[in-house]
Amino acid sequence: MSGHGTPIPMTSRRASPLKGVAEVPGDKSISHRSLILGAMAIGETKISGLLEGEDVLDTAKAMQAFGAEVINHGGGEWSVFGVGVGGFAEPENVIDCGNSGTGVRLIMGAMATSPITATFTGDASLNKRPMARVTDPLALFGTQSVGRSGGRLPMTIIGAADPVPVRYTVPVPSAQVKSAVLLAGLNAPGKTVVIEKEATRDHSERMLAGFGAEITTEDTEEGRVITLTGRPELKPQVIAVPRDPSSAAFPVCAALITPGSDVLVPGIGLNPTRAGLFYTLQDMGADLTFENERLEGGEPVADLRAKFSPNMKGIEVPPERAASMIDEYPVLSVVASFATGTTMMAGVKELRVKESDRIDAMAKGLRANGITVEEGEDWWSVEGCGPEGVKGGGTAQSFLDHRIAMSFMVMGMGAQNPVSVDDGSPIATSFPIFEPLMAGLGANITRDNG
Ligand code: S3P
Repeated sequence: MSGHGTPIPMTSRRASPLKGVAEVPGDKSISHRSLILGAMAIGETKISGLLEGEDVLDTAKAMQAFGAEVINHGGGEWSVFGVGVGGFAEPENVIDCGNSGTGVRLIMGAMATSPITATFTGDASLNKRPMARVTDPLALFGTQSVGRSGGRLPMTIIGAADPVPVRYTVPVPSAQVKSAVLLAGLNAPGKTVVIEKEATRDHSERMLAGFGAEITTEDTEEGRVITLTGRPELKPQVIAVPRDPSSAAFPVCAALITPGSDVLVPGIGLNPTRAGLFYTLQDMGADLTFENERLEGGEPVADLRAKFSPNMKGIEVPPERAASMIDEYPVLSVVASFATGTTMMAGVKELRVKESDRIDAMAKGLRANGITVEEGEDWWSVEGCGPEGVKGGGTAQSFLDHRIAMSFMVMGMGAQNPVSVDDGSPIATSFPIFEPLMAGLGANITRDNG
């Protein structure tokens, strides 16, 4: 079981105005999928702008373990020489996916319909997370799995030697589950159908189509019906990974709460299945604008300009928007602390099974910094203290969760007193340049153990 080495306590102090351009790294979801689908195509897939965070690097290693050749040319340029659908080899060792739920769940799906056996593990956070949500639908293909109690890692997956196609309605809004079923469907004969009641991020569907799979999406009364025809020959692609809206959230939110700030975050995807945070911030009265709106690789993209916003108001975040901003609630709750009035976030039960229980982790850390938070099983609310009213001065636990650690570093930039986290090391899983990037804008984040 891997960890994150020595904990890195960090402190963020009230920043001078944040100014400049924040070039955030590549999209994590798209980076994982580029490597996995590249490994399932025949020939060389060329990827630029790959996120070189720990999560994605673990997926790159896993693809090598399953027989693909993965080459790092430097500077975010990578090549994957794939082995074709159904061509995975049996790994010699345990596959360690580190902190990454996306990595492990998508890879389980990708190998589930090949006649091979693989054992998966992760760090202390990943090994607590539920895997039955993936192994239940994989069992319908004929895949077997043996894990620890509660369907947790370490877990061995025995791929189906003779898979059958599946029709599956995803019971929770999860792009990881949807994607695992679709990737398994690639090596099943006939049509695999996935139905989701709420639309989640659609990167797998878009990329499968790009690689030449026959895949259709239909919005029906049942929900979104995605139909994939199995056993395609996937054609290698040239992929330019767009910058990650979930990483953009941090400099954007930091600018909104730090007096005098004006930050440009260029080239951020506004795919409707990912952009919910930005619309929510605008609904709160944030001075956040989309400049230079354009289409890149078929995706809507814009440069985001965020300025200090002293007049933000608490709102009820529409629950139907939850899937499109599920990773952004932690940092939204920080912004809500600097707004006037209450921000209510409902329909967010999934936050409890992320890298940490994000409602619990944020509630504890916000309270330690003087904020009133109420919570229930699938909702929470934050009482805003106004633009100058956040006391800070507390230490939050990050619970091995990168987004919790970064959210509290953002809080410290606008609070009256410094805000600390016990361990910022998980930031490297998704945003390895977070500290230099934020320092370049004028933030004051220090590592407290030298
Ligand atoms: C992801 C899906 C989401 C998200 C995660 C990335 C993906 O998880 O929280 O960070 O790339 O498919 P769920 O599928 O559990 O909602």
